[in-house]
Amino acid sequence: MKKLFTKNTKVIFFNEHPVPIQAMLDFDWICAKSEPCVSAIVNPKKTGFHKTFFGPKEILIPVFKSLEEAVKFAPQADVLINFASIRSSFESTKLALATKTIRSIVLVAEGIPENQTRELIRIAKKNKKWIIGPSTVGAIKAGAIRIGYSGGSSENIIESKLYQPGSVGVVTVSGGMSNEVYSIVNKNTDGVNEGVAIGGDTYPGSTILENVMRLHENPEIKMLVVLGEIGGTDEYEIAEAIKTGKIDKPVVAWVSGTVAELFQTEVQFGHAGARSGSRKVSALAKNKVLKEAGAYVPKSFNQFGYLIKKVFEDEVQKRKGYTLPTQVIPQVPPQDFDIALRDGLVRRRTSIVSGISDDRGEKLTYKGVDIDKIVKKPLSQTINALWFENRLDKTGMDFLELCLKLTADHGPAVVTAHNAITTARAGKDLVSSVVSGLLTIGPRHGGAINDSAKWQFQCVATKINPTEFVKEMNLKGELIMGIGHRVKSVQNPDERVQLIKDFARKNLKKSAHLDYALLVETETTKKKNNLILNVDGAIGSVFLDILKSNNYKDDEILELIEIELFNAIFLLGRTIGIIGHVLDQKKMKEPLYRHPWDDILYK
Ligand code: ACO
Ligand code: LMR
Repeated sequence: MKKLFTKNTKVIFFNEHPVPIQAMLDFDWICAKSEPCVSAIVNPKKTGFHKTFFGPKEILIPVFKSLEEAVKFAPQADVLINFASIRSSFESTKLALATKTIRSIVLVAEGIPENQTRELIRIAKKNKKWIIGPSTVGAIKAGAIRIGYSGGSSENIIESKLYQPGSVGVVTVSGGMSNEVYSIVNKNTDGVNEGVAIGGDTYPGSTILENVMRLHENPEIKMLVVLGEIGGTDEYEIAEAIKTGKIDKPVVAWVSGTVAELFQTEVQFGHAGARSGSRKVSALAKNKVLKEAGAYVPKSFNQFGYLIKKVFEDEVQKRKGYTLPTQVIPQVPPQDFDIALRDGLVRRRTSIVSGISDDRGEKLTYKGVDIDKIVKKPLSQTINALWFENRLDKTGMDFLELCLKLTADHGPAVVTAHNAITTARAGKDLVSSVVSGLLTIGPRHGGAINDSAKWQFQCVATKINPTEFVKEMNLKGELIMGIGHRVKSVQNPDERVQLIKDFARKNLKKSAHLDYALLVETETTKKKNNLILNVDGAIGSVFLDILKSNNYKDDEILELIEIELFNAIFLLGRTIGIIGHVLDQKKMKEPLYRHPWDDILYK
């Protein structure tokens, strides 16, 4: 029969499982193949591409919702690797068995009902197709292709030299043990040529004997290694084939499960098919019948490697015409970065440094404070954690609460509100309308807290006389930030400023910056009654006093001024009011705003 697997075999992979797909392509790379063996993938939930690596290069493998579409795209693929779930394995395998271009199916799922498996076997025989599995890791053709995970990690592939074909054919029941046997064979012979794990179900798609005979036909294979299991009668057929000469290549065999003899009752091992049952299917009986037929059977599994070595040397290596397999230098695939990073093999500079919160653990934390503790505290605790590294005391947090409430809004006539309102009435979405208002915050309105804190800090630090300071600013023609208001004045005081002053008087032992700002106000209001200490100026001066009372050093305060932390207070507060105005306009479905002509002086 035509070989199932060669270096040119192409496969269709059913169910988009990234890890075995990558394992197969890494094997292709290790064997220095020019292209990957997976031609298409079936994922019933998606059409598109699967991103994976072929060596160092990232490639896209087409993904189709149905096997029919995948087969149409890749008629050259004659193997289906079926990673479907138990529920969909039967139908998908039946479909593959009815597909002309598919010659063999590797069925991975464990636990497929026996009646379904037997039906699949019946169809496979009728359609002359080959099934490996169910419950298998697959098969491997050294130097050519590996199916699924067969052969284990890339390191094991290289260590067991599965990148170059040797003289030994391996047939096992267990997938896990197949990797072990490949390693034993590599250590004791010139290497594996092809290996297959038929799977541990009671009814395998292809039996040990069928696979032994399939490998036996391959002229590259000079000896066979078989690892059977307790249960079933396959080994009797192998023994018969050896006796009749159907198998004329040396067979080294071992049936595992001899420990069952120690039990008084029937023993069910891991695989469904590994059931002790009658004496005939016991490991002891089957090892005996194989030995009597002429197979090489070790006294125990521990002797398996030794006997494989002896048979290889005596029956293969010494035989006339034996040639050492072509030695291949494997191409080591790059390691997945994430795995190498996890194992400390590589390191990478991070692109971002963040110090205020962490969402990676079980609980979100704000500067180390668990979210379930944060939610029990006022909003100012959150700001304290996210802005101030939890350094503010209660007074500091209470002042933040006060500022947020006071700056939240100041009526629809203020420029921030006005722009938000007109933008909302222009039909813009919430975010655009709110941003329109926020972008109006600036040196003349809401954005003067920072600059007011700057002169307040410097004046107090340098102890300049307030009158001198005002004169200096006047001479320079510079406005004093935090001073002046369009509508508030000495006669029409800003209630919010009064509340800020009351807070300071009540909660702060020292208020040097507020005191200084009020002295400046005394000077400026001599010129005009609206040149009062406004909300920006008041917040700036009191917050300086609060930072001082929280032991912030001068350079720390200067840094906070530099990064505009003071303006952040008004920004956060006024966002509340701006959102309110936008929602208000949208609820009222107010039409587009157009400024009245009579309110414009056309120069
Ligand atoms: N410092 C010194 N002199 C001032 C100041 C000030 N901050 N503000 C106004 N003046 C002077 C002007 O130079 C002008 O003098 P002049 O007559 O000799 O030319 C006179 O006062 C009138 O100036 P206007 O700009 O017409 O005064 P207006 O009342 O329009 O200004 C405003 C109000 C825009 C707030 C202004 O005082 C100012 O820009 N202040 C600094 C920025 C600031 O603190 N903004 C925050 C406001 S509150 C808030 O937005 C929450
Ligand atoms: C505000 O809070 O918006 C102001 O004090 C500015 C203003 O013009 O009312």
